[in-house]
Amino acid sequence: MNTLVETLFMSKGKFDPIIPVVDDGLIIPEVGAWAETKYKLLGGYCEIFTTGMKNLWDNLVYVDLFAGAGYAKIKETNKIRMTSALIAMSVTHKFNKYILCEKDEANFNALQERVKRHFPKLIDKVQFIKGDSNENIDDICSAIPKHSKDEKVLRFCFVDPFSLNLKFKTIKRLSQVGKIDFLILLALYMDANRNLIYYINDRSKKVEEFIDDPNWRTPFVNGEIPINDFIKFLAEKYDKNMKSIDYKEPVKKHQVKIDGINVPLYYLAFYSKHERGNDFYQKVERYLSDQQSLF
Ligand SMILES: C[S@@+](CC[C@H](N)C(=O)[O-])C[C@H]1O[C@@H](n2cnc3c(N)ncnc32)[C@H](O)[C@@H]1O
Repeated sequence: MNTLVETLFMSKGKFDPIIPVVDDGLIIPEVGAWAETKYKLLGGYCEIFTTGMKNLWDNLVYVDLFAGAGYAKIKETNKIRMTSALIAMSVTHKFNKYILCEKDEANFNALQERVKRHFPKLIDKVQFIKGDSNENIDDICSAIPKHSKDEKVLRFCFVDPFSLNLKFKTIKRLSQVGKIDFLILLALYMDANRNLIYYINDRSKKVEEFIDDPNWRTPFVNGEIPINDFIKFLAEKYDKNMKSIDYKEPVKKHQVKIDGINVPLYYLAFYSKHERGNDFYQKVERYLSDQQSLF
């Protein structure tokens, strides 16, 4: 067992990414119980990343492209939990800057209120960017601090869309700002699986933009790839795309299933250009799989 992971998650006062909160009257989107796995992986990774990197880098930056409202209610239990942005702000050693992006007006306003209320001391470190992150990508990149000879900057970007509404160009553009690791939720089962026939027949550009390939339909129409392999095709293509911009293949894509039944919902895939990022993520992932109850 890795000692850093042990220290962070097994000691007294360990960081627990599942953070209970109470109804504050603002919007609280409902999510399935499976979302807690996402919160554990994200929170676990942020904790290990900031703890392990704080003395090696001058500026650690957290970017959340689909930040949400800050709270969510777990449908199955009615419990209210902090979500991605607020989890990332709760870690023991804070990031130096948080860039929080959200398109929906009500979610955006609730997120701002909650950040102010829970983290008044961090407010100067937070930049909120309202609107479509695919469209706002230049503004988001401008908000990300640049590396210089006086300041070493390392960034971590969480990407959590509901659907395939994530353009690969957005990720590619972000990758050009400098050192940046990604934790991407690939909503392959939730969206891709349900809507394949529609995507194949329709002129929808969603899949094309998701994997940056205008000819993606051809192998399906020609029968070279069976329709049942659509998810596999997308997952592999995503890795290839990331590889084309110099990211390592993810060590493992964490598959999240609906509790109790064997229906996979989405993949969480971690992409880094460096071994250390993969190593950190793998440790959190393995630890979570082995020790679910400790979080
Ligand atoms: C799955 S929720 C993510 C919630 C949050 N990250 C969490 O930890 O629960 C996706 C969020 O992205 C927002 N959204 C959808 N499309 C977007 C876009 N193109 N740009 C920015 N935000 C978007 C939605 O309003 C929603 O709040």
